[in-house]
Amino acid sequence: MRTLSTAVAIAAHVGMALSQAQITVNTGSTLQEIDGFGVSQAFTRAAEFEGMNPEPRRKGLDYLFSTTTGAGLTIIRNRIGSKGQGDSILPVSPGSPNATPNYVWDGSDSSQVWFSKEAMAYGVNQIYGNAWSAPGFMKTNNNEANGGYLCGVSGRSCGSGDWRRAYAHLLTQYVKFYAQEGVNVTHLGFLNEPDFVATYSSMQSDGNQAASFIPILHQTLAENDLSHVQITCCDAMGWSSQGTMTGQLVQQGMEQYLGVITSHMYTGDPNSPMNTKLKTWQTEACDLQSSWCTTWYSNGGLCEGMTWANKLHTGIVNANLSGYLYWEGVEVNQFQAASYLVASDGTNVIPSGRLWAFAQWSRFVRPGARRVSHSGSVNNVGIGAFKNTDGTVAVVFTNNGSNQNVRVNFNGFTPSTAIAYVTDNNRAVAETAVTLSGGSVTLDVPGRAVLTLKLSASE
Ligand SMILES: *[C@@H]1O[C@H](CO)[C@@H](O)[C@H](O)[C@H]1NC(C)=O
Ligand SMILES: *[C@@H]1O[C@H](CO)[C@@H](O)[C@H](O)[C@H]1NC(C)=O
Ligand SMILES: *[C@@H]1O[C@H](CO)[C@@H](O)[C@H](O)[C@H]1NC(C)=O
Repeated sequence: MRTLSTAVAIAAHVGMALSQAQITVNTGSTLQEIDGFGVSQAFTRAAEFEGMNPEPRRKGLDYLFSTTTGAGLTIIRNRIGSKGQGDSILPVSPGSPNATPNYVWDGSDSSQVWFSKEAMAYGVNQIYGNAWSAPGFMKTNNNEANGGYLCGVSGRSCGSGDWRRAYAHLLTQYVKFYAQEGVNVTHLGFLNEPDFVATYSSMQSDGNQAASFIPILHQTLAENDLSHVQITCCDAMGWSSQGTMTGQLVQQGMEQYLGVITSHMYTGDPNSPMNTKLKTWQTEACDLQSSWCTTWYSNGGLCEGMTWANKLHTGIVNANLSGYLYWEGVEVNQFQAASYLVASDGTNVIPSGRLWAFAQWSRFVRPGARRVSHSGSVNNVGIGAFKNTDGTVAVVFTNNGSNQNVRVNFNGFTPSTAIAYVTDNNRAVAETAVTLSGGSVTLDVPGRAVLTLKLSASE
């Protein structure tokens, strides 16, 4: 009996030791800079959000931006309108490209000014203004919808003349109107899904045509003391399509004018680094197929939080992204789709599992953080490690499999405090136990969960 129980005890001990995976985070080995995570409230969603009663509205804003009760998002994407009166700042054609434009500003921009200021109150300072199209009168099809090209880009001319400068001027004026409201537009895009013809605001372009406009926009911003505004391109439908456009931009020498390469994920998720020295952001991702769901994990469906946790991991760690944006943030009385992170009926405000997937990253991996390398691996667990500008370190574990006991060592960093937060089917960014001893952390990463370990350095 005694022999047997000793053997069992030894086996249990050995089994435990064998099942503990080890990784080492190398804080001195830095990779891409992280700008952050975000959403849009484009196409009347900001106005519906602003129109809510104050209490649920605050709850919705907290879910998006609070670093203690929400996702702590740090980027917002506003739509620059092209639909005429009430949408575009240049609703009426001045008649010709060189005539004086009569800009119109209502101070609200469909409540996107309100949304920007609310985000800023939580510390957000990355405001992406993105045009879906130029006004119709600047385009080959004389319509802001149904595709068509900006008059004057390579291979596309119009009887009315070359409108490239006028479009650059309009975009610059948009930035000035926002500045007038106290909102600093930091990123500016002039295309949205230029590889897709939509029945709503849309404008076509390939990379070479974009390259025949970018230097003009860059110069116009500079002439107006707005050189700090980073130009983005091109918000294509998917990663490989954007890859083709990026190749053309790089070949045309556009990297000197651009700040960020931007892509959506509808025809392909970011899964490997884009061939550019510029930062890359995934600027529009969502589930357009499922009805609204709050599920964390069930069967790996597109509306589930765990699915998006994997997409975030793959984008940041495998594809070298610096930013990742879901499509919309809060939607009121929609409930029909999973294309937004938070739903409300006007009274109740309901976060999705997808929101908590974003929270596991955005609350802890803050703007300016550098991704750092690590060695070692854990079965079925994706690992991303980051050093924040305040000296704290965050390690995000995305566990597709079952519970794993992990020991985390550090190279170039001595943690003085360690705290972990976990999201799974029963918890949403809930604190969970870790052991810090001898400069290493031991913890359990539950199955089908994301766990973020946050460490501060000793003095
Ligand atoms: C706007 O943001 C940029 C950083 O993107 C910064 O350099 C600039 O000082 C800011 N301007 C204002 C007026 O806050
Ligand atoms: C990752 O992105 C950065 C820009 O943020 C770039 O300088 C670097 O070359 C990229 N790394 C890879 C492996 O593509
Ligand atoms: C986790 O599962 C997703 C698919 O659901 C897959 O894309 C990803 O590579 C997996 N990650 C790991 C670390 O196993």
